[in-house]
Amino acid sequence: MVNKVFVPPIKIQGIKTKIVNLISDNVYLTPDSTWYEPFMGSGVVGLNLAPHKAVFSDTNPYVVELYKAIQQKKVTSKIVREFLEYEGAILAEKDDEHYYYIRDRFNEKHNPLDFLFLNRSCFNGMIRFNRYYKFNVPYGHKPERFAKAYVTKIVNQVKHLESIFPENDWEFVCCSFEETIARAGSGDFIYCDPPYIGRHVDYYDSWDEEHEIALRDALFASQAKFMLSTWDENKYRKNDYIDTVWKGCYKLNKEHFYHVGAREENRNSMMEALLMNYDPATCTKRPMANGEQLTLESIAL
Ligand SMILES: C[S@@+](CC[C@H](N)C(=O)[O-])C[C@H]1O[C@@H](n2cnc3c(N)ncnc32)[C@H](O)[C@@H]1O
Repeated sequence: MVNKVFVPPIKIQGIKTKIVNLISDNVYLTPDSTWYEPFMGSGVVGLNLAPHKAVFSDTNPYVVELYKAIQQKKVTSKIVREFLEYEGAILAEKDDEHYYYIRDRFNEKHNPLDFLFLNRSCFNGMIRFNRYYKFNVPYGHKPERFAKAYVTKIVNQVKHLESIFPENDWEFVCCSFEETIARAGSGDFIYCDPPYIGRHVDYYDSWDEEHEIALRDALFASQAKFMLSTWDENKYRKNDYIDTVWKGCYKLNKEHFYHVGAREENRNSMMEALLMNYDPATCTKRPMANGEQLTLESIAL
């Protein structure tokens, strides 16, 4: 159980802030385990749970570069404050015009500070790229977008990273999930949060059935314990991959509510699932084999 969940400076659709504690209660780590997180996104899970050694990776180079820049002290909380105050003041004056100026500048030069600026001022904190890998999220209109309190909040999030990075042996790498999973050994732990199959996603890369199967094969071949986040069902649909591709895993469920718009009748629920190759109650690992008939055990919370 994490007492106070640390919220990182990056926002991303599908961020797992709300289930950090559920994950924490069910991961299996020893002080010697290395934490592998091949779909780090904002990094919220590992940044709260990872032991001394960890490898965070993603195919989106810009999230990785931002964390590396903070780790290497090329981007500090002081630099972030000065940057956001300066660019935020111009945004307050020029509005969209300045947002799109920074977006063009980022797409040309890929400065991590520009990425942070865009991530914290774009529409709904989305991370989305077009087929030429150009960031294409529109401006998220808001008066005083970078108000003093908002800048301070972001600066404090960066400060927190500055304080935890030197205490830990954490590596940030831009690579595909296969490379990261292949590095994990028997005492290690892999947490995976890939784009949700069968649902509309727009991250850095697309995700389809071929990816889902490649991920399953990589995880089932690993000696490490793994946990995978996915969706189970909502009012309209069920994730059929759970009983097919992921057959044989232990499963934990949690209902998650979200709003589309402000009205109460638009409150929808979605069942999130955590799939594991070990029994979270006893931490006993189950041998995983492709296509083998194993019963799916469901422990509803
Ligand atoms: C659901 S998000 C992860 C969210 C993260 N757990 C969080 O709470 O912030 C999925 C991530 O997978 C990354 N991704 C997509 N395809 C990938 C691939 N083939 N290998 C590694 N990462 C990939 C995306 O860039 C995105 O950051």
